[in-house]
Amino acid sequence: MGICAVGETEETPAQHRHPKTVQGALGGLLLGPRAGLARMRCPRPRRPDLGLVLAVATFAVLVLFSLHVSTPPSCLLPEKPLGTPEVLPWPSPPARPRPAPCLANASAAAHPDFAGQPRHVRDFLLYRHCRSFPLLQDASPDKCAQPVFLLLAIKSSPSNYERRELVRRTWGQERQVRGAQLRRLFLVGSAGHQHEARKVNRLLELEARTHGDILQWDFHDSFFNLTLKQVLFLEWQKTRCTDASFVLNGDDDVFAHTDNMVTYLQGLDPDQHLFVGHLIQNVGPIRVSWSKYYVPQVVTREERYPPYCGGGGFLLSRFTAAALRRAAPALDLFPIDDVFLGMCLEREGLKPTSHSGIRTAGVQAPSTRLSSFDPCFYRELLLVHRFLPYEMLLMWDALSQPDFTCGKRAQVF
Ligand SMILES: *[C@@H]1O[C@H](CO)[C@@H](O)[C@H](O)[C@H]1NC(C)=O
Ligand SMILES: *[C@@H]1O[C@H](CO)[C@@H](O)[C@H](O)[C@H]1NC(C)=O
Repeated sequence: MGICAVGETEETPAQHRHPKTVQGALGGLLLGPRAGLARMRCPRPRRPDLGLVLAVATFAVLVLFSLHVSTPPSCLLPEKPLGTPEVLPWPSPPARPRPAPCLANASAAAHPDFAGQPRHVRDFLLYRHCRSFPLLQDASPDKCAQPVFLLLAIKSSPSNYERRELVRRTWGQERQVRGAQLRRLFLVGSAGHQHEARKVNRLLELEARTHGDILQWDFHDSFFNLTLKQVLFLEWQKTRCTDASFVLNGDDDVFAHTDNMVTYLQGLDPDQHLFVGHLIQNVGPIRVSWSKYYVPQVVTREERYPPYCGGGGFLLSRFTAAALRRAAPALDLFPIDDVFLGMCLEREGLKPTSHSGIRTAGVQAPSTRLSSFDPCFYRELLLVHRFLPYEMLLMWDALSQPDFTCGKRAQVF
């Protein structure tokens, strides 16, 4: 309730609270119709006719008394006293039975090293055992109706709207490449703060309706929860897209040369083991607490990681996806998602391998005279990490030119 008060007094402060951010721009987009609705319901007469107003008011008072109505109509009086900070009144989501939330593990907090850990490590330890979360947005039902050759499963943060749009327009287009079907999914959790979450959930609902490519679960999307995202995706795939021959699993800031990937994968058997990417081996947990990858002893006492592929982007076959699905429930969740998949492979007696065309650590230009953005470097590659959205568009455009050649004058930027 209190619609009139919000329409007239809250609109400007709301815009000020989210200045010029991505969320702000979208917030404006989403606020528009709502504010419009408020005004529509409560039109302000331009030239009030005093006699008419009095007559209507008298009639209304009489009706109120005759019906013994005790609550005032919402458009005459706001329910909350003016000046109370108002929570933006999104329409509440359709009621669905919510499973009981997973409770924090109190004995994890009793560990002597627990209290001294950074917040995200403590969160991880408290909720490490939670593996089942409701799906908020599902992919369109026909996502895998036709045999899928390559399923693009792209990890994205809830508010990374621009990145998803660019991926949709460029390398992630759902299409056929030499007869092979490509399908696209974004794997998303929920924003951490309640207000933010409600807003971004509306955005994801909109995207899901428009593109049918959103898989969203109701857990806090954070770096240490990426493993959870990975595990939930494998579970979803078991029932919804288990026949896809290959999966590209990657981040939303990579440039994937999906045409080259199809060429590479068409020579391979989806029912054999395949797990290729940027291979990382002979490393172990980082024990310095300022690092993004900090993993304290209270999480693992192990000093080495099994070989794994950098999580920015890797390819796997349906054979290997099934193996990971078998191994994951038997292992404790580990906060670093790509390492966790290495642990799953090890448990299944499988090895990740390296592909020289997958560069999740970036690309070195062969000479200082050439820009590392030259599309000719990318012509032979499968995947490169860290692209800005506009760079994706430029690269896609350059690689898609029918007369694209890498001669003396290939550099277009
Ligand atoms: C809770 O934490 C303790 C100590 O870390 C651990 O031994 C136990 O397995 C955890 N319980 C669950 C349900 O994960
Ligand atoms: C992972 O998500 C759960 C559910 O939202 C949350 O309770 C937990 O704190 C999150 N863990 C991290 C490390 O963010």
